[in-house]
Amino acid sequence: MLDLFADETPWQEPLAEGAVILRRFARAAAGELIQQIEHVASHSPFRQMVTPGGYTMSVEMTNCGARGWTTDPHGYLYSPDDPLTGRRWPEMPQAFRALSDAASQAAGYPGFTPDACLINRYAPGAKLSLHQDKDEPNLRQPIVSVSLGLPAVFQFGGLKRNDPLVRVMLEHGDVVVWGGPSRLFYHGILPLKAGHHPATGEVRYNLTFRCTE
Ligand code: SIN
Ligand code: FE2
Repeated sequence: MLDLFADETPWQEPLAEGAVILRRFARAAAGELIQQIEHVASHSPFRQMVTPGGYTMSVEMTNCGARGWTTDPHGYLYSPDDPLTGRRWPEMPQAFRALSDAASQAAGYPGFTPDACLINRYAPGAKLSLHQDKDEPNLRQPIVSVSLGLPAVFQFGGLKRNDPLVRVMLEHGDVVVWGGPSRLFYHGILPLKAGHHPATGEVRYNLTFRCTE
């Protein structure tokens, strides 16, 4: 199929102090990234995690890398083992690492060394309520977040839950990087609208790279 946007050059959109959207940045690598997501999921399957409060999350998750984000009855944690399989999470694919390196560099955060990648899968209706990424000890390291497949509305606020929210549509290949003054800003994803995307079918994937050391 002729893809009129295949050669679209990435561009940057500032989102907040320390936060930027790298539009279409991951588009060239998207096919490989999606293949690697499927590979990771063939070892550590997607699952709906249950919060300490007993709420089953609508987003399905898995991880790769030395540690993975997960829940247990006491809270949220980064674990070297997948609690579902009892084995290590799959290794972080080289294509993931390369993308995260290039994106953090382009966003002004050189030297980002992620050891964890959370992989989210959104089916229609799935959402991620407003939250902070605050389970990482070193807040000098940014978050790199890659969107693949169906578009979704991303909300980005401030340090307080009730700070005003900016709403932006994240599309296939968009990468958001936030750190420095916005590292702990609240963010979330509105319920996914049903649709079809040639690269992912009926779902949206998101990769978030974190440094947990
Ligand atoms: C997240 O906050 O962990 C994911 C955000 C997204 O899906 O874009
Ligand atoms: Fe998050």
